[in-house]
Amino acid sequence: MRRLVVVSNRVAPSSGADSAGGLSVGLHAALKRSQGLWIGWNGRIEDSAREELQVEDGEAYQLATRSLSQAEHDRYYAGFSNGALWPLLHGRSDLMRFDPEDLPYYLAVNERFARQAVPLLSSADLLWVHDYHFLALGDALRRRNAHQPLGFFLHVPFPHADCVAALPCHHQVMRLLSAYDLIGFQTEASLRNFRDYVVRHHGALAEPDHVTLAGRRVRVGRFPIGIDVDRFAALATSARVQQLVGELLPCFSSAAGIVGVDRLDYTKGLPQRLRAFERFLEQSPQWRRRAFLTQVAAPSREDVQEYADLRHDLDTLSGRINARHASVDWMPLRYINRALPQWRLAALYRLSRVGLVTPLADGMNLVAKEYLAAQDPADPGVLVLSRFAGAADQLGSALLVNPHDFGAVAAAIRQALEMPLEERRSRWASAIAGLRAQDVHDWRERFLVALAQNPEPPLVRLAR
Ligand code: G6P
Repeated sequence: MRRLVVVSNRVAPSSGADSAGGLSVGLHAALKRSQGLWIGWNGRIEDSAREELQVEDGEAYQLATRSLSQAEHDRYYAGFSNGALWPLLHGRSDLMRFDPEDLPYYLAVNERFARQAVPLLSSADLLWVHDYHFLALGDALRRRNAHQPLGFFLHVPFPHADCVAALPCHHQVMRLLSAYDLIGFQTEASLRNFRDYVVRHHGALAEPDHVTLAGRRVRVGRFPIGIDVDRFAALATSARVQQLVGELLPCFSSAAGIVGVDRLDYTKGLPQRLRAFERFLEQSPQWRRRAFLTQVAAPSREDVQEYADLRHDLDTLSGRINARHASVDWMPLRYINRALPQWRLAALYRLSRVGLVTPLADGMNLVAKEYLAAQDPADPGVLVLSRFAGAADQLGSALLVNPHDFGAVAAAIRQALEMPLEERRSRWASAIAGLRAQDVHDWRERFLVALAQNPEPPLVRLAR
């Protein structure tokens, strides 16, 4: 069996703990069975000598991590990755902060990870690189004579071709993707946009499953990431979660809970969501004092200015909504500005009659899937889901909304709260069957099988 080597900016502990995020749940089994290796940032910022990869044996696989220097953090992570690429890839070129001095750091961090990874690799490995932080890593590995099958998966959307072209260095950066053997996207729309982009802006040739970019034929495909449905359902019915459900039940039995859980990010449409909720309060007097929204917004990337601005705006907006609509014994909005552990979220999902997932753009959105997996099959809640989340492709049985249309979101909240049990059950059953059919294990295996079968000759480039 070939060893799996994963590279991503964030790495997960190798214990497969309950708190594990979507990617680590997905990769855990394959890393464990192949005694794999996960390479990435250790989350620390240090200007000391600890810049080399530190290899440690975890419970299930090896980890090789390194710190970032302050300058690398500011320019590779906060700067080029999250100040320029993140907004760009979410179709927000208006929020893109392109500082030409960030690019050399981005490329240098990609080079450094590649240089330090190569001695840890063996020729039989399968290499799988994740997300927009490492667009250039494949090229840096190839120039160091890494000939292993090399896959790349983009977790975020790939937007319209002309949006990508707003990045001044888009030619230089995007053509580096030609070093990969397989490039995976979450949705058909992202795959189509990528094909269109490379044809129009790089003169590439596109076939249904391949593009020929910078002289190299690269396989491309749609691989929608899922969740481990049984694992999440088991978490939601575990003794610890059920105890919490029992403790919180009095709040939720006297009024109907609506829940939103997101990183505090402008792509998640949080101000729009709160405004739509306010519209719902105004338009549905029969639900006043009978429905409330719990919105968890975990702080994120606070050293990027747009995130600090958003946090400030949400503080104001949430305060205003409660000030306007609360009464002495009822608070319509519970705004929680910190991350909650997954088992607490599972209880919150289970207790809430509506899951409100309304990003303006999102690669997939696993909260939508976890909300569904946590429901009681006998009395399930209803998912209100943005059309612009990748998950909408698979969740046609949710109430699909345009998050910019506050009136429509308000109407969907009301429809969800008033939906008869039979309809809730049938919508939920159809959604969960789809989630089971395309779960996270299916995602991983389909990608890895496609990567291992790659028939293209390895790219050989000389080191610079
Ligand atoms: C998104 C990205 C991931 C990223 C995560 C958390 O899901 O696709 O690559 O790790 O956000 O963001 P952070 O900047 O905290 O790693």
